[in-house]
Amino acid sequence: MSSFSEQIESLKNAAVQALSSAEELSALEQARVTYLGANSEFNGLLKQLGKLPKEERPIVGKVVNLAKTELAAILEKRKAELELKAALPKEKTDFTLPGRRGKTGSFHPLTQVTLDIIRIFRKLGFVVAEGPEIEDEYHCFDALNTPANHPARDSQDTFFIKGDVDSSGKDRLLRTHTSSVQIRVMEKQAPPVRIIVPGRVYRRDNADATHNPTFHQIEGLYVDKDVTVGDLKGTVEYVFKELLGNEVKVRFRPHYFSYTEPSYEIDFSTSLVRKMGKDWLEIAGCGMVHPKVFQQVGYDPEMWTGWAFGFGIERIAMIRYGISDIRLFYENDLRFLNQF
Ligand code: DAH
Repeated sequence: MSSFSEQIESLKNAAVQALSSAEELSALEQARVTYLGANSEFNGLLKQLGKLPKEERPIVGKVVNLAKTELAAILEKRKAELELKAALPKEKTDFTLPGRRGKTGSFHPLTQVTLDIIRIFRKLGFVVAEGPEIEDEYHCFDALNTPANHPARDSQDTFFIKGDVDSSGKDRLLRTHTSSVQIRVMEKQAPPVRIIVPGRVYRRDNADATHNPTFHQIEGLYVDKDVTVGDLKGTVEYVFKELLGNEVKVRFRPHYFSYTEPSYEIDFSTSLVRKMGKDWLEIAGCGMVHPKVFQQVGYDPEMWTGWAFGFGIERIAMIRYGISDIRLFYENDLRFLNQF
C-alpha cells in the first residue's frame, strides 16, 4: 500500500499548498481544476485503486476520502477569504470615518399632527374611519339636519360639480366638512360607535394667511348609552393636553350647529396663543348628536346618545410650529418642509 498512499499524501500536500497560497479567485479555480477536477492527477490515482491488492483497497480508499474532505474544506475557506478580499475597496479606506447618511425625508407637518391626534384617540379606543371627498348633498347636509336654505348649501360657499349628479338628480359636491362621514359610518354599523375621521375638505374661500379653499379636519363621533357633555369635555381636555402640553386650557362656548344640540365652540389657550396677543383661539365645533341625525340613520334616539366634534388640523399645526401663513402648507417648498 505504502507507495500508493505516499503518492496520495504528497499530492495532497501539493494541493493544500496550491489552494491556500492562491492570491486571486482565478488562481484558486486553477488550483481546484488541477488537483480536484475530473482530469486531475488525483483522480488519475484513484482510477488505479483497482490495481491494489484487495485488503489494501479499503485502507487506501479511506486515506483518499480523508484527503478529499480536507481539500474541500480548505478550498471553501480560501474561496470565502478571496471573495471578501475582492469585495473590499481597492484604494486605501478609513473605516473609522462616519458614514454618509442617505436622505430619508419626513412626514408633512399636517400629517405629523394628524398622526399624533390619531395616536391619542386610539388610546381611548377610537378607530379611524374614512369617507369620499366627492359627496352628495344628502350626506353633507340633509342627513345632518342642515336645512335647504342654509348658507353652506349656496354655490357661493360650496364647490358643486356640475353635471355629476347623485341618484336624486342633484349635483354632487366637494365635501365642506368631514361631518358627512358620521352619516356614512352610522348608516353601515350599529351602535356603539367610536370613530375619528381625518380628511381633506373644500370651501369656496379666497386664499389668504388664514384661509385656503382646501384644508383638513378631524371629525370625532362617539355613540353609546348615557353619553354626556361631561364625557365630551373630559375627552377634549385630555386630547388637547396630550397634544399641546399640560398647560393648555380649554373652554366651551354655546354655539349653533344643526346636527348637535346643545352645541358648542371650543376655544383653547396656551402660552403660544398668548404670545400671538390673544387669550383664546377658537379651534373646534362640537355638541351632543341631534336626535334627528340619529333618526336619519335608523338609530333610536331614546336609546342612544352621543357627541361629535370637528376641528381644523391646519390651525393646530400653525400653533404648534409657530407658522403664520396657512398657504405654506400647500406650496411644497422644500425649504419649508425640510424644517419638520
Ligand atoms: N362641521 C363643522 C365645521 O366644519 C364642525 C363641527 C361642529 C363638527 C359640530 C361636528 C360638530 O361634528 O358636532 O365647522
